[in-house]
Amino acid sequence: EKGGYEHFMIKEIHEQPKAIKDTMTSRIMPDSDEIKLDDIKLTAEDLKNIDKIFIVACGTAYHAGMVGKYVIEKLARIPVEIDIASEFRYRDPIINERTLMIVISQSGETADTLAALRDAKKQGARVIAITNVVGSSVAREADDLLYTWAGPEIAVASTKAYTTQLVALYIIGLYLAKLNGRLSVEEYREIRDEMLLLPEKLEKLLEQKEELQRFASNNHMHRDMFYLGRGLDNAVALEGALKLKEISYIHAEAYAAGELKHGPIALIDKGIPVIALATQEDLFDKTLSNIQEVVARGAKVFAVAFEGHEDIKKTADQVVFIPKTMPLLAPILSVVPLQLLSYYAAVERGCDVDKPRNLAKSVTVE
Ligand code: M6R
Repeated sequence: EKGGYEHFMIKEIHEQPKAIKDTMTSRIMPDSDEIKLDDIKLTAEDLKNIDKIFIVACGTAYHAGMVGKYVIEKLARIPVEIDIASEFRYRDPIINERTLMIVISQSGETADTLAALRDAKKQGARVIAITNVVGSSVAREADDLLYTWAGPEIAVASTKAYTTQLVALYIIGLYLAKLNGRLSVEEYREIRDEMLLLPEKLEKLLEQKEELQRFASNNHMHRDMFYLGRGLDNAVALEGALKLKEISYIHAEAYAAGELKHGPIALIDKGIPVIALATQEDLFDKTLSNIQEVVARGAKVFAVAFEGHEDIKKTADQVVFIPKTMPLLAPILSVVPLQLLSYYAAVERGCDVDKPRNLAKSVTVE
């Protein structure tokens, strides 16, 4: 059942090229400028009435939502708030008929996410669900629906669900931008064509594992690790840190790189491993200078950057280069080295990778 792999997690990491491909197929097509979403009935007229979007989810799905906020605001120019479901429910958010809510849940059964969906509907919001489980509660109760076609995810640590949630959010971002008249055909084609190339690029990326294995075997005994990034890289850093905590039990923290000087840099000491993401071209120099700051304090930096940025090798101890794509789409690729790094660290430490202590695959209690 593990198809020759030692754990479900590593099998599922390798299933990502197919999973993201399946999530795009028949929705965005190379020879058409239309996006086909049969279970999303939202029209341009409906969207005119929407003044705010809330994205609500837990854990990894919440991290996908952070990318979603960025993408939807950038493409569709509608204000988006992102919330953790267990916070959203109890903070009396301002919801009405002009609210669109997007809930994200792999299982479709997470208690807090489902309760947030029900509350929002009661107050008149329209709800789009992104879920991986056909016929799940979230799928049944939402007004509009977009399935991720990741296939069953068995490992507690979410991997292919995350990358397919990202694809779903890019598709929704493009869809809303089109409905909103914010996206020209040329812009649409450029993003669509890049998206369609992602499965192939991800496949290529999965071939480079040695650097990651080496880093994991040199660093798995550390008590703490830090993750840094700006913009979309910050969202991915948070997901990378969660993955490491969950399965290797190493204390991991992610910070927006620009926040370093506001406190966290006090934690940087000789030999501390820092994972730095530097995929956002317009922020590259700023991130690089943050990397230099932690290096100057003795950190050992493992960087993730696009191919072509060989200059980063001068500063970072180790680098994984990801295949070139638009910075907007980088999270789908840049998260993969972080998933692998957590996996190898957990294996080195002899942890129960697929069933980490204290965690359940689906959190149906509040
Ligand atoms: O099924 P859901 O997507 O609603 O689950 C949400 C979280 O419980 C889940 O993503 C959790 O954080 C994972 N263990 C992360 O790897």
